[in-house]
Amino acid sequence: MNSLANEEMRLNVPAHLQHARLIDWVGRMAELTQARDVYWCDGSDAEYDRLCAKLVAAGTLERLNPETRPNSYLARSSASDVARVEDRTFICSARKEDAGPTNNWIAPQQMRELLQSGDKALFKGCMRGRTLYVVPFSMGPLGSPIAHLGVELSDSPYVVVNMKIMTRMGRAVLDALGSDGHFVPCVHSVGAPLRDGQADTSWPCNHTKYIVHYPETQEIWSYGSGYGGNALLGKKCFALRIASTMGRDQGWLAEHMLVMGVTSPGGKKLHVAAAFPSACGKTNFSMLIPPAALQGWKVTTVGDDIAWIKPGKDGRLYAINPEAGYFGVAPGTNLHTNANCMATLKRDVIFTNVARTDDGDVWWEGMTQTPPAHLIDWQGKHWTPEIARQTGAKAAHPNSRFTVAATNNPALDPQWDDPAGVPIDAFIFGGRRSSTVPLVTEARSWIEGIYMAATMGSETTAAASGAQGVVRRDPFAMLPFIGYNMSDYFQHWLDLGAKLEAQDIALPRIYCVNWFRKGADGKFIWPGYGENMRVLQWIVGRIQGQAKAEDHLMGLSPGYADLNWKGLDFTQAQYRQVTDIDAADWAREVALHAELFEQLAYHMPAPLLATMADIRKRLAR
Ligand code: OXD
Ligand code: MN
Repeated sequence: MNSLANEEMRLNVPAHLQHARLIDWVGRMAELTQARDVYWCDGSDAEYDRLCAKLVAAGTLERLNPETRPNSYLARSSASDVARVEDRTFICSARKEDAGPTNNWIAPQQMRELLQSGDKALFKGCMRGRTLYVVPFSMGPLGSPIAHLGVELSDSPYVVVNMKIMTRMGRAVLDALGSDGHFVPCVHSVGAPLRDGQADTSWPCNHTKYIVHYPETQEIWSYGSGYGGNALLGKKCFALRIASTMGRDQGWLAEHMLVMGVTSPGGKKLHVAAAFPSACGKTNFSMLIPPAALQGWKVTTVGDDIAWIKPGKDGRLYAINPEAGYFGVAPGTNLHTNANCMATLKRDVIFTNVARTDDGDVWWEGMTQTPPAHLIDWQGKHWTPEIARQTGAKAAHPNSRFTVAATNNPALDPQWDDPAGVPIDAFIFGGRRSSTVPLVTEARSWIEGIYMAATMGSETTAAASGAQGVVRRDPFAMLPFIGYNMSDYFQHWLDLGAKLEAQDIALPRIYCVNWFRKGADGKFIWPGYGENMRVLQWIVGRIQGQAKAEDHLMGLSPGYADLNWKGLDFTQAQYRQVTDIDAADWAREVALHAELFEQLAYHMPAPLLATMADIRKRLAR
């Protein structure tokens, strides 16, 4: 046997695989990480079941009651590994300016030394005693002109089973790669090598964490975490950070957006893409059930978190959901806030960091009004409502999640898997703001819409580690996810609009929404959830030239009479509370826009500065 054949045998390369570059890379990574062995995932259900059984034996997963939650599992992570680590996330472009002031940057050479080549490089030997899983995956329907392929190497079987749900994963992707197909290489390690005979823990990870992107070479390296966006590298790392740089270079958009179909009672269907920061209700909005009084309206889900958007042959913008599943926030999900999601979660789910009931089912804060009398909390401890009252302990972690296939969703859009994507009629941008920002505003132009998206602020949530409830600017809901300089990203949106307008293509309208204004009692004023259909109905009416709007400081909004109030008791006074534009609040708000623009001064597009100057003039009047 020649040495190449020997090497392929050592790496367990499947006989059908002809991709020399892929095999060579896997060989080099196996050598670097000193993995015990290599396993190539085929993506089959049998493989999923086998790996879940292995994870149950290792204590990482617990099988839930098959009668109440068939084919479902619960994982509890280490308490130090519960959210995305934005302060440990790096964009290692060759030039610091290309990462921009909103990203952490370390020179690529220095980062490579830290991770791969230095004497104490973190990836050297990091998989000792563990299997290296080769996970070939497609972001987007296989064969779609908008889709792209990746291969994640990971030493975490928990990651593999999540990737099986979240992406199109396995043998079909290797076939699509052929002998020389392009893929984005993603290397992931929990950073917990095992000495001979050393017992494993149920959630191996490392206090040191690095989530690293090299945009020029389209590489992703993730070390130390096994949780969510830190470890499922197809999601934030590839589909947003790396894909946004691909989009910049190739003329398309990778966005932190849900995509939904909205069908009116007359049967006309439009498509809306909406950006909200993490844990601000994208999943709920994408699965919205209209109130009974708005009979005949229907919302269907194309995607709940990420959209890849490209101009089609007719010049219009078409979107696909690059993912195949939902990795959603559990707390707050219930039959009122998202009945479609509750139905989606009836079976075939991996829950992480929720609480377990005594009969082997799951519970989280907000699932039911009255909590069960006893639970095992997300850290494996006894929990009762009395303990919670005394200590404030949450049963489920605020960033606890479910991983579930899109095909479980009863509101799934029939075109969710269409390789051509769906044409986008409107973009919506929304933050979590307890004051200042009105319920809904339509931009009067593409530039005004880009300004609204660029200056968006939102109160921080538990989706990322760090302080919560602090208003921070989160342009386009992409602050943690943009793979290059934020000002260049604004320019990219402006350029795309200008290019399409020059071809006489009608651009999608742009809207800014805020469901989260609070009254003096600290409670939300707008009922939200299904009632957001009223805002969607107005947006559809605007696009179809039927709904009225009033001009104001920074756009157009519906007057009280312009929204459909059938079946909802919401007074004019309440409406004023969610729509008022207070001059003093806005003077403060625009000062924060100016602060952001100063931070982003390098390459800041002039039309956005001009829009801010216009708003200031109107405010002064
Ligand atoms: C997510 C996030 O997991 O935005 O989608 O944090
Ligand atoms: Mn997200």
